[in-house]
Amino acid sequence: MPDKAVVTSAQRIGVIGMGVMGKNLALNMVDNGYPVSVFDLDAQRVAGAVAQAEQEFGCNSALQGCQSLEQLLSQLTSPRIVILSVPAGAPVDSVCHALLKAGLDAEDIVVDTGNSLWTDTIAREQHFQGKFHFFSSAVSGGEVGARFGPSLMPSGEMQVWQQLAPLWHAIAAKVDPETGLPVSRTAAGQTKAPALQQGEPCAAFIGPAGAGHYVKMVHNGIEYADMQLICEAYHLLSSALGMTAVEIAAVFDSWDKGPLNSYLMAISAEVLRQQDPVTGAALVDMILDKAGQKGTGLWTAVSSLELGTPAPTLAEAVYARALSARHELRQRLSQTLPVGRCDISGAAVSETDKTALISALESALLCGKIAGYAQGFQLMADNAATQGWQLNFADIARIWRAGCIIRAGFLQHIVAAYEAEPSLAHLFAAPEFNRLLTEHITGLRQSLVFGIQQGIPMPCLTSALSYYDSYRSARLPANLLQGQRDYFGAHSFERHDAPAGQHFHLNWSGDRQQHAVN
Ligand code: 6PG
Repeated sequence: MPDKAVVTSAQRIGVIGMGVMGKNLALNMVDNGYPVSVFDLDAQRVAGAVAQAEQEFGCNSALQGCQSLEQLLSQLTSPRIVILSVPAGAPVDSVCHALLKAGLDAEDIVVDTGNSLWTDTIAREQHFQGKFHFFSSAVSGGEVGARFGPSLMPSGEMQVWQQLAPLWHAIAAKVDPETGLPVSRTAAGQTKAPALQQGEPCAAFIGPAGAGHYVKMVHNGIEYADMQLICEAYHLLSSALGMTAVEIAAVFDSWDKGPLNSYLMAISAEVLRQQDPVTGAALVDMILDKAGQKGTGLWTAVSSLELGTPAPTLAEAVYARALSARHELRQRLSQTLPVGRCDISGAAVSETDKTALISALESALLCGKIAGYAQGFQLMADNAATQGWQLNFADIARIWRAGCIIRAGFLQHIVAAYEAEPSLAHLFAAPEFNRLLTEHITGLRQSLVFGIQQGIPMPCLTSALSYYDSYRSARLPANLLQGQRDYFGAHSFERHDAPAGQHFHLNWSGDRQQHAVN
């Protein structure tokens, strides 16, 4: 592709899909001085976006509604930039084909911002090669992020990124580069906000096609684990310590001021504090304990299994949602299965023990969080190696510090770890994480001992400790496992006292002599 001018704020941008994300991304672009033409198969959604823009920016707003793809393309100048915000999967392909029919040409750029499966993105870039530039940019941050600054994970042709970068940098969330903390564009309760000039944008080119969506998929895998870890802490505090939702909210608020500071911690406190408008009880007590999922956590777990990258905490978070969804069976079995308490007297926990437990649980969450991120980053590194991508992990941590769902103060440590050692083998190997684990691992162990005795399920916390203990073990019982495999399947084994890669088989059913295997 020949050199192209970068997109300027004089250039009109097309946005297709006026669902929550598409509409808010379009309004964000208008905030930042970009005129936008929008289209959706549902004309009411287009009308809704136009009405909202008029309400916010006045009658002659820079957001124009279109009744057809042809009309949308006619309003854009070449090379046209069309942003897709449509459901992942078949709708992305059908819009791309419809755009081609409507007159898209070879220089035009289509950017998929949905939660697409990364392998679909690679296939699409190849499929549409020569017809138009298929580019992708994963987006995190939900409705508010899309409107006031999301975290953006673009990937595809570098030259397309160079054209798109000013627009992407403008609409992205911003971070104070010194503190690593988000720079807010809105005051509390505000519904519109001016463009932000200062701060480091949470948008960085990730790599070739598919890389951005892979990184976003892992972001969501970590998101699942982060959420489940917080839920396990809530479960322990409510079921084992008998604390109310409002009391737990106060604990979460205090944790949010320390090393666990994060968006998910803050919103969890807010959810816990919310009163049910119908009954007046705590809303959380009225919400059915049956989790949904759209698939990105599952893809992360599948990818970890395919790559052979241990990511048990991320996978357990997916299983936890699946198990919660078997609501009826749980109701039935909860009547018949005993807890099998070991050395718990049944006496109420004293106030001193309660304070100590809450403090241990804070440490437990921090260790669980470190394990989850370590698994996610290792997964990205392993997939990058198989795909030949050069991922910049400091950049990935950097663009997750604001805008996205897993934004957290803690990400600043990950930025520093990868800045100090770009090819870091594992987060546990970074001095700062070693220090944090050394300081807090006892709290994780204590919390689990208590929770397990009480019969509280804590799949993510438990898996995090096993993951930690496995890496801490110079020797694991896989020696016996290899013996078992060799016994029934002649699968062979290596020996401590022989060169690596040299395999042996023992004639288990015969003379029990060992033979070298090639
Ligand atoms: C984000 C979120 C967003 C969404 C996912 C997860 O980064 O903005 O991850 O992509 O919340 O769809 O949804 P599920 O929990 O339903 O899988």
